[in-house]
Amino acid sequence: MAPDMLQVDSVIQRRLASDVAMINQIANYIISAGGKRIRPMLVLLFSKALGFTGPERHELAATVEFIHTATLLHDDVVDESALRRGRQTANALFGNAASVLVGDFVYSRAFQMMVSVNRMRVLDVLADATNVIAEGEVLQLMNMHDPDLQVEDYLRVIRFKTAKLFEASARLGAVLANADRTVEESCADYGRSLGTAFQLVDDLLDYEGATSQLGKNVGDDLREGKPTLPLLLAMERGTAAERDLIRHAIEHGEIARLSEIVEIVRHTGAIAATRDAARAEANKARRSLDLLPASEQRDALLELCVRSVERSS
Ligand code: IPE
Ligand code: IPE
Ligand code: MG
Ligand code: MG
Repeated sequence: MAPDMLQVDSVIQRRLASDVAMINQIANYIISAGGKRIRPMLVLLFSKALGFTGPERHELAATVEFIHTATLLHDDVVDESALRRGRQTANALFGNAASVLVGDFVYSRAFQMMVSVNRMRVLDVLADATNVIAEGEVLQLMNMHDPDLQVEDYLRVIRFKTAKLFEASARLGAVLANADRTVEESCADYGRSLGTAFQLVDDLLDYEGATSQLGKNVGDDLREGKPTLPLLLAMERGTAAERDLIRHAIEHGEIARLSEIVEIVRHTGAIAATRDAARAEANKARRSLDLLPASEQRDALLELCVRSVERSS
């Protein structure tokens, strides 16, 4: 992937440019911190696995990374997060207003880029994805501080806020390659399942992970009173006292007893069960690749399923 990713990087650099100094400063600040670049990789892997090698794949890979970057700029404001990719967040350093507005710049630049590819289906896929991501973030806001949230409502949020962009990235590979509709749907299924697995693991790492490895502060979800799967399962499995402690923490966004809660989430098996749920989604993703012809890219996509579940960063 390295040569292709370098090309994507050069599109990113070229497309980030603006005459407005503060846009360059903040956009470069978050982009140069790197990140795993999984979403652009999906565009590249699926398009190549299906035989498409035109330059549009780099443009669209950069486009999905821009959409992701814009959501992170906005997300860190909404979540009041202080650390991202091992650095202070843009909001912590430059303020909320600058982060939101530069997020809007990056976001609308992504729309200019997708139009440049000149394919109606691409616009259709990405307009739909961005709209669903916004719905997911708003749904999550409505679920904040609710310890009685149902697992299926939690899953709906992560499918919307995270899995949808994975789904769109994978689908775009198929759209570029003019794959038939059944193949396109399988690619989309892969992205949706992988993205779900990915967010489930993100949510467990907020309890089990290490800030130094994640480049994000652990415990942020609890501080916000976010009812994620590790907490929902720990309440189901814990004693009455443990359940009350977690309920109270969700209702009040209480970080003070984080270490006790981490202990409960661990010994009730809620962490392991969350990872099992992620593994089941990743296995679903693997099966969606059955329709793809054997190739290096298909192998890489299979490997991504394993790594997304076992990751610690
Ligand atoms: C972070 O996504 C937001 C989530 C959906 C959990 P990534 O973990 O892909 O972030 P970067 O781009 O690698 O920093
Ligand atoms: C990531 O959500 C943002 C979007 C998917 C829009 P989170 O708030 O759960 O992710 P992190 O932990 O800040 O990366
Ligand atoms: Mg966040
Ligand atoms: Mg968030």
